[in-house]
Amino acid sequence: MSATGASTAGRPAAGARPGKRDLLSISDIASDLPALLHRAEELKALRRQHVLPRPLLDRNVAMIFEKPSTRTRSSFEIGVQELGGHAVYLSSSEMQLGRGETIADTARVLSRYYDGLVYRAFKWQNEEELARWASVPVINALDDREHPCQIVADLQTLSERWAGRFTGRRLAWIGDGNNVLQSLVLGCAAVGLDLIAAIPEGYRPSDEILARANRLAAGTGAKIRIVADPREAAKDADALYTDVWVSMGEEAEAAARKTAFRGYTIDDGLLDLARPGAFAMHDLPAHRGLEITDSVMDGDRQAIWDQAENRLHAQKAILELLIPPAVPRSTP
Ligand code: CP
Ligand code: NVA
Repeated sequence: MSATGASTAGRPAAGARPGKRDLLSISDIASDLPALLHRAEELKALRRQHVLPRPLLDRNVAMIFEKPSTRTRSSFEIGVQELGGHAVYLSSSEMQLGRGETIADTARVLSRYYDGLVYRAFKWQNEEELARWASVPVINALDDREHPCQIVADLQTLSERWAGRFTGRRLAWIGDGNNVLQSLVLGCAAVGLDLIAAIPEGYRPSDEILARANRLAAGTGAKIRIVADPREAAKDADALYTDVWVSMGEEAEAAARKTAFRGYTIDDGLLDLARPGAFAMHDLPAHRGLEITDSVMDGDRQAIWDQAENRLHAQKAILELLIPPAVPRSTP
């Protein structure tokens, strides 16, 4: 699909819905995060009581996926349905996108049917292209630069464990400076959570993301630090977070990455360096025995399954924030 991603001549069609908001980067919702996390926790509690608010009644959401997904696809599909809307899964390889139709044309057509577009893309430029031409909100379901919905769920998980307070806590990242880490840096900076990331040289987050994170951190007091040594990051941390060493689309680099990340494994020894009560996090899917051990994943010192569950609640809060309710329809 990347070949079809180039901008077409002309301008985006007029008619973007008034107040349309996209979620391409977690920094797009930086100031909404406290309320969003509160709402996600509320929606979780309501669901436990079998109460399902329906703000998306009569709303349709397309989910365009260029890459595989277990959690994001399922949690968005169920989330839209629980909010009263209708979700349609579209694999890009089965769309005309796969045969050369442009992203711009696709965006204009889908905006006539749907009230929101969820998009998992190989390239962040394609994400921006879809948002530029769509007249309805676009929600980033992962690209090569960010994974914002994951981080909203992760912040919800941390908020639950820490009674809603990020101040004075320290999160340690161990591993690749990838899409998940880049959203995490921005998310931590936005909510005032200190982050220390152990990342090998050559795999660090982009200067642009770090500069944006530092601007957000200036307003919240969060301290963001990148180091090389996993033990330095783990020491006195309240939680250790990791992700795969080889992200989707990087398969050709697998051998070099496995060498570069040797020693960046979350195991019991690394967790022992952290503060009492510290736990491991992973966005999943995990490669057990590489970035994290079986013992940590299957033990008590982890928040991994809560993270996965919270994708559902966090994304419901995101959908509710970004997709306006249907205008009441008059009977024909
Ligand atoms: N964590 C995450 O986004 O998982 P999926 O790739 O299964 O959606
Ligand atoms: N960094 C990983 C996250 C998977 C949810 C990837 O992009 O493949």
